[in-house]
Parts: sequence; C-alpha cells; structure tokens
Amino acid sequence: MSTLLTVTDLQASYGHAQALFGVSFEVKAGEVVTLLGRNGMGRSTIIKCLFGLLPVKAGSIAFSGKSIHNFPSHSIARLGLGLVPEGRQIFPTLSVEENLIATARVRCNTKDSLEKWTLDRVYSFFPRLKERRSNQGWQLSGGEQQMLAIGRALMTNPQLLVLDEATEGLAPLIRAEIWDVLSTLKNEGLSQIVIDKNVGALLKFADRHYVMEKGKVVWNGSSSALRAEANIIHQYLGV
Ligand SMILES: Nc1ncnc2c1ncn2[C@@H]1O[C@H](COP(=O)(O)OP(=O)(O)OP(=O)(O)O)[C@@H](O)[C@H]1O
Ligand SMILES: [Mg+2]
Repeated sequence: MSTLLTVTDLQASYGHAQALFGVSFEVKAGEVVTLLGRNGMGRSTIIKCLFGLLPVKAGSIAFSGKSIHNFPSHSIARLGLGLVPEGRQIFPTLSVEENLIATARVRCNTKDSLEKWTLDRVYSFFPRLKERRSNQGWQLSGGEQQMLAIGRALMTNPQLLVLDEATEGLAPLIRAEIWDVLSTLKNEGLSQIVIDKNVGALLKFADRHYVMEKGKVVWNGSSSALRAEANIIHQYLGV
C-alpha cells in the first residue's frame, strides 16, 4: 500500500498557546485511520493544519508525496483532500442542491480509478437529500445537514475524506446510516480520517488508530491491537 498522507512532527499554536507538540501519523491508500482522544486533545487542530485553516508552526505535511503545509485551503481541496468539518458548516440560505454544486470540482489529480462524484451519485447514496433538494440548509434536520456535509465533500472528488465528528448529536438510526455510507465508501477504496466519540463503531470500521493526549500521539495501532488494550481505552478515551 502506498502512503497517501504523511504528517511529521507537526506543531501548531493558537496565539501563545501551543496545541500540537510534534504529532506524526500517516494514512496509506485505501485505509481508514482515526484520531482518538478526550475533548480538547488537539484532533480538530490537526485537521485545521491539514486544510490550511491554521498555520503550521513546525513539522511537515505531505500528500501524495507533495509537501502541502501552509498551502491555501482551495489548493488543498483541489489536490484531493475533502473535509466534513466539525459542526457541518453547510450554507443555511442555499438549497441542498446549491450546497452540493457550490463545492463541486474535478480534482487536478485524476489518475486513480475512483469514479467521479455527480449530483446523481450523491443522491443515490442519500435519497433523503434528493427529496429535500429544493429545501434550504436551515430547513434540514441535523441528520440531513450531516448527510449534506458529507455529500458536499464528496462532490470535490476527494482522494482522502476527513470527517470531524460526523455523527455528533445524531439519533442512533441516523448514526447507523452514516456509518453504513462510510463503510461503503471504504469498500470502494476511499481513504478516510475519522474523528468520532463512538469508539465502538470506529473499532469495527477503521483499520488503524492514533490516540492523542494534550497535543501528542500517545499510542497507535490496529483495531485488534486497540481492542486488546482495555487500559489505553480507559485511560485516554474514558470509555
Ligand atoms: N480557536 C481557538 N483558540 C484558542 N484555543 C483553541 C482554539 N481551538 C482550540 N483551542 C484549544 O486547543 C486545544 C485543542 O483543541 P481541539 O479543538 O483541537 O480539540 P479536539 O481534540 O478536537 O477536541 P473536541 O473537539 O472534543 O473539543 C484545546 O486546548 C483547545 O482549548
Ligand atoms: Mg474537535
């Protein structure tokens, strides 16, 4: 498996407050990797650095062998990183369809065989979005908004999909629907970084995990290795 993303010794700060203290991890092509940890441990901060939303103070980020740290966000999206951000952040006064079209783009790097995402294909994954296509963002339920956030990221034709708390605050049935969609995408070979509080679901679905504490990675390993580490799960994840 080739390596898609390599993050090395990443450091970042909010003003004088340092949030990341040398984080390293990698994602191989086709892998689903998680960033785990309690609240405030630095997971969203890593995502902000990946997408050019927070300056990288030290360290490096390479995507498909190309250094991307401190690139502007739009260049990063064009290279094939798709973000489903914390809090969904859909456009409330645009319709479902306008939200989807707003970010649609053909990636620069199309050498892999992933089918291009179209409105029809997003609607076939999320029939509810098709029914709601003319409704404005603010009129949607939380689950529908989350589906829209995922659909919108897929419309950028990502090679790596990054989901920050995509099941947060959703009813169990909707959550299950989201996990099903992400599993289907995994089976199609789409690489993913997933941040989520549902460790049980992640243990079933993801390949490898990075456990964070206070801006550092304190453990990493496969799902089967993490399942065997009850003390890690208890100490760093509190479950
Ligand atoms: N905009 C900001 N300004 C200042 N400090 C911030 C900001 N965003 C996050 N922090 C701080 O950076 C640290 C890491 O936060 P981060 O948002 O990365 O955590 P997280 O692991 O995503 O957790 P969660 O999403 O569960 O809160 C925390 O101490 C947090 O208080
Ligand atoms: Mg977060």
